Amino acid sequence: MYKSVIFFCFIFVSSENSLLATRFFNLFSPDLTMQFNIQLTADGIVKYSLYADKMPLVKEGRMGIKLLNQLSFDKGFELVSIDTSSIDLFWEPVWGEEKRIRNHCKRMLVHLQHMSTGRKWMIEVRLYNDGVGFRYIFPVQDGFSHFIIEDELTSFPLSDDHSCFWIPGDSDSNEYSYSKTKLKEIYALQGNPGNDIGFKSLISDTTVQTPLTMRTKSDAYVSIHEAALVNYPAMMLGIHRKSLTLKTELVADAIGNKAYLNAGDQTPWRVILFARKASDLLRNRIILNLNEPSALNETSWIKPGKYLGIWWEMHLKTKDWVCQTNFDSLKHKSHGASTDHVLAYIDFASAHKIPYLLVEGWNEGWENGDGGWSERKFIFTKPYPDFDLNRISKYAAEKNVRLIMHHETYGTVTDYERQMHDAFDLMQQYNYPIVKTGYVGRLVPRGEHHDGQWMVNHYAHVAKKTADRKIMLNVHEAVRPTGLHRTYPNWISSEAGRGNEFNAWGQGNPPEHETILPFTRLLGGPMDYTPGIFQLKLNVYGLPEKQQVNTTLAKQLALYVTLYSPLQMAADLIENYEKHPIAFQFIKDVATDWDTTVVIDAMPGDFVYMARKQKAKNNWFVGMITDEQARDHTIIFDFLEPGKKYEAKIYMDGTTAHWQSNPMDYKIESRSLNSKDKLKIKLAPGGGCAISLMQMD
Ligand code: NOJ
Ligand code: CA
Repeated sequence: MYKSVIFFCFIFVSSENSLLATRFFNLFSPDLTMQFNIQLTADGIVKYSLYADKMPLVKEGRMGIKLLNQLSFDKGFELVSIDTSSIDLFWEPVWGEEKRIRNHCKRMLVHLQHMSTGRKWMIEVRLYNDGVGFRYIFPVQDGFSHFIIEDELTSFPLSDDHSCFWIPGDSDSNEYSYSKTKLKEIYALQGNPGNDIGFKSLISDTTVQTPLTMRTKSDAYVSIHEAALVNYPAMMLGIHRKSLTLKTELVADAIGNKAYLNAGDQTPWRVILFARKASDLLRNRIILNLNEPSALNETSWIKPGKYLGIWWEMHLKTKDWVCQTNFDSLKHKSHGASTDHVLAYIDFASAHKIPYLLVEGWNEGWENGDGGWSERKFIFTKPYPDFDLNRISKYAAEKNVRLIMHHETYGTVTDYERQMHDAFDLMQQYNYPIVKTGYVGRLVPRGEHHDGQWMVNHYAHVAKKTADRKIMLNVHEAVRPTGLHRTYPNWISSEAGRGNEFNAWGQGNPPEHETILPFTRLLGGPMDYTPGIFQLKLNVYGLPEKQQVNTTLAKQLALYVTLYSPLQMAADLIENYEKHPIAFQFIKDVATDWDTTVVIDAMPGDFVYMARKQKAKNNWFVGMITDEQARDHTIIFDFLEPGKKYEAKIYMDGTTAHWQSNPMDYKIESRSLNSKDKLKIKLAPGGGCAISLMQMD
């Protein structure tokens, strides 16, 4: 079934060889539209440049790594040989936005050696029709066993002062809303509403996070990110305004070092994605292609799906994570994870065929804090006395609902590593298939960062340990994804961005936020955004008058399609779904795993229109969202199978809908549609539209 063609070509270069003299090597993408050049300067510095359609995207970027107290991979290198080859194959992800992915690129392996010491260094490049990835490989060799990275020198000198969608470089959080400015106008320390981890670790005024997505003057898109972040700190980008150059800034550890590696290791891929138009960026699969295939042989236990939660109530402050019997009841509301309340959620999930239920605040430890973000000690094997684990798990099994266990660590990572094996034992004993982990707050050990090498290794360790036990993993407050879910498909979702929960506190998310996420955060992997809030005005819960979710109700539905995750929450309270049973039908129907994804049209910061075909079924779901502007768009249903009829339900903004003044005005229409039909859809300011298209017999 798989088509695989790999051609090899090997060029050996001796010091007499004329190739060495030119010191300039190029590679063309399979369709010849992209060109990647590597250049060795006279003093043995390695530089690269990237062209698309003969136009420069990156001009003479630096390659290299500076080591602490050792010969660095920075200058004095000469070429030994170059291998070139092609990759052209198809592979099938365990779950995803499409069932079959083509990996089609040209590959170049550059062997270098240090002119005076002979120290070997390799650079691997994979050039695609829509971007490039390159990484550094440090071969095992005499006199070289382990090393400390002081700085990575990789730079990206850009061809122009592009318009950027950026969040500030923070070593501990990515939970920011996006700013849109020219590269030269980035001031990362200003004007950014806070994250939810209680403190900031902003690096500098000119450091931003990746994916950094940029629009060029000709309306093409370039995005810089990384793939396969393994045993290495996350890459931030420092901006040199004058030269329009971005430089890799690795997140440091507690004593200022960047990474500890061994001979035989390699860096993650540095990735530059290119799209001639915005919607093409959402079809780019380079990051997945650069990751290793699944490390798991047997994956039938990994099942995408939707989940309800004892969750939103705590964010609304109508219920608490803390159990009153252990705590000062005057200060806190009633406990969310009490047995009766959980049983009611199991009943509702079962009645509506929602397969999973998250319960937060089930275990001891929430009470040992001051209610703020200070350090706590959790016990991941000890339920609160009013959470009857035996009864709850038995009842859930009878009702065909599976429970998601919550492990909030509040950053106490060393303690979690001590406890997690027992905690996973408990999960297996009670048949929990999914764990949601969380890392709110400053880390223990102190001085380490959420995006540093130590934590990157921790997340991967948890992914492996959960995989060993056939447990799926959803991580909050982790480093942003880099496609590792290809290798560990049990790592079914991550937050790693500013989710819907922000709308329950403080400033919330601006209406354009969800139109930017697919072009930035989601390029690395799925997001547990937690959509599906129907009661959008939150003053009804006693929160401040202005507190609300900054979308219309129809847009909350559309997010199930436009914000990809194989694990999607139905985040609102049961009572709100009971008040809107017909709108809730869309959440019940919408799929979480897909055969095909069609980007109808999209523009970051403005709108995203997408259609997706349910995995192994001939049903389609359309999601359309807009920013604060009202829009209309005529959908052409030519993606449907010709000759078939579909029962369509259209969940639209009502005529007076507006994200701020009237977010809950919606209307639903039913009709039959086929591939020749067109439909004009109106989106309210901050609004959206969701359509289910079920094939009729
Ligand atoms: C932040 C997480 O994003 C949220 O989902 C969770 O409820 C709280 N931390 C408490 O763990
Ligand atoms: Ca969070």
